[in-house]
Amino acid sequence: MLKVLHVAGARPNFMKVAPVMRALKGKPGIRQYLVHTGQHYDAAMSDVFFADLNLPAPDINLGVGGGTHAQQTARVMLEFERVCEELRPDIVVVVGDVNSSLSAALVAAKLGIPVAHVEAGLRSFDMSMPEEINRVLIDRVAEYLFTPSWDANANLMREGVPNERIHLVGNVMIDSLVYVLPRARRLNIFSKLGVSPGQYGFVTFHRPANVDCRNVISWIVDNMCRLQESMDIVFPVHPRTRRRLKEFGLDLKLLKCSRIRLIEPLSYVETLALVDSAGIVITDSGGLQEETTFLGVPCVTVRPNTERPVTITEGTNVLCSPLSASFMEIVRAQLDEGRKHVAIKYWDGRAAERIANCLVS
Ligand code: UD1
Repeated sequence: MLKVLHVAGARPNFMKVAPVMRALKGKPGIRQYLVHTGQHYDAAMSDVFFADLNLPAPDINLGVGGGTHAQQTARVMLEFERVCEELRPDIVVVVGDVNSSLSAALVAAKLGIPVAHVEAGLRSFDMSMPEEINRVLIDRVAEYLFTPSWDANANLMREGVPNERIHLVGNVMIDSLVYVLPRARRLNIFSKLGVSPGQYGFVTFHRPANVDCRNVISWIVDNMCRLQESMDIVFPVHPRTRRRLKEFGLDLKLLKCSRIRLIEPLSYVETLALVDSAGIVITDSGGLQEETTFLGVPCVTVRPNTERPVTITEGTNVLCSPLSASFMEIVRAQLDEGRKHVAIKYWDGRAAERIANCLVS
């Protein structure tokens, strides 16, 4: 029996773990375990994704919760080392770039357990982003690097990673999207929110560089207030963002805007339904840049850079630097551009199958 230990901790991880576990389920000689680090713990940030994705309940929950980066990273490491010593996995699979993934990769590598990294090789080349630090370090210690697109292969090769460790498998986020989309398209969330398909903007912000900084979050709020003069806006609010809006006294300003729907974080199915039918998506999320590209929905990413450049060169994404005076022009240009058909190699719903085949062989 090959013991495969998967690690998930924060919201975007669940969409990446689910297809890999499903693809490995049918393979003989595999025993899988799922460890939830507990980095995200609210039902809306965690449990709902298990239901939407038919993800099995975690075998172990480390319950680490929030805290500073050092506290969070260290707590996962201490707890995860205990789990590895107990279960003695043959391989540890980590996904994406959150703190939990780095902690688990470091622990496994130091115990001599091979690490597989799903979504390897992405680079923003911006070390002020905690996720960039996490990505670079995970890829350094990983034995199997599963990349979503050719640019990730190029990044890894430039960093001197041996070719035989790099496997271009495609995008597992798109696997989950393809799996859930038919259900999302049957959902009628629009009347509940009082918006019409194609006629609203879908907005999310949660990056510390955007929401922890008073002048940047004020700039975001001002632009949302301006944008809602011409279209309805649906804005599910991440817990970090909700706290900052309140702290800076900006929540009341948004609440006064009649066309902005400020709502709680959504489930995965609900998010996809709203992204799929949005006129435009405005975000600082990594996953949404990919989902909009796959669905052909115009996207404005409010960041100075992206680790997912194919969403710009081949997809529907454009960047807008925080505090830019051109925000409204960029949004208008994207709205004029409209939807378009995009096909990126291996973003086809079968990335996890390629990962499973590679791990088994
Ligand atoms: C983390 C990831 C980020 C990812 C994001 C998705 C890192 C470095 N960052 O950022 O890459 O895009 O998740 O959401 O790992 N909180 C709650 N309930 C929860 C989870 C968080 O209230 O279920 C609050 C807590 O106050 C917590 C804060 O949000 O301290 C931030 O959570 P944390 O996991 O530290 O970072 P995110 O901003 O969510």
